[in-house]
Amino acid sequence: DEAAAIARLKSCGVIPVVVIEDAGRAVDLAHALVAGGIDVVEVTLRRPAAIEALAAIARSVPKALAVAGTVVTPAQVSQVKDAGAQAVVSPGFSESVDEALRKAGLPWLPGVATASDCMRAVAAGRTTAKFFPAEQAGGPPALKALSGPFPQMSFCPTGGVGLKNLGDYLALPQVICVGGSWLVPADAIASGDWNRITTLAREAKEAFLKFRG
Ligand code: 3PG
Repeated sequence: DEAAAIARLKSCGVIPVVVIEDAGRAVDLAHALVAGGIDVVEVTLRRPAAIEALAAIARSVPKALAVAGTVVTPAQVSQVKDAGAQAVVSPGFSESVDEALRKAGLPWLPGVATASDCMRAVAAGRTTAKFFPAEQAGGPPALKALSGPFPQMSFCPTGGVGLKNLGDYLALPQVICVGGSWLVPADAIASGDWNRITTLAREAKEAFLKFRG
């Protein structure tokens, strides 16, 4: 359920945003992340292989929370539900996707970048959101200012986040976790360099624990 999924994101701390070309690599990738202490995997629907990759992780890696990312239409909500997604992330907010997720019974982090986005999210009862694109939208000072009128909201900043700045986000009490693609580089996935991914995951986890241990 929603609360359990949010608790998982919170304890994981850093959500890897995966762009995958070959679904055959998904299970090894998820195992590599779990070995480094990262037990949430967000598979973005940006490549044809994404749905199959998500399904493989949901089926074969019970230790990982299988999250569908870049979900922008109600049709994609049905697809990811069928694939076994346990939670969904979107880059923005839309009433039609909100409705579809309610029907699907899946936890959702809509994307927000402005006060208007937050008003729509709050009106729909959505109080946990992805702050996207975090750095480009103004970084921690922007998120801090945006949080002022929305004290009920908590955020997962994503977009331009890395080891050098994740502490600035985690210093904000309304930030529950951060997301990023830096721990799942495309070349490491393509070459099956799972040790490198486990090392990046471990580094990310240690950085998170330094601020939220
Ligand atoms: C996302 O969709 O969340 C972003 O593409 C991830 O941003 P990053 O590549 O800057 O980490």
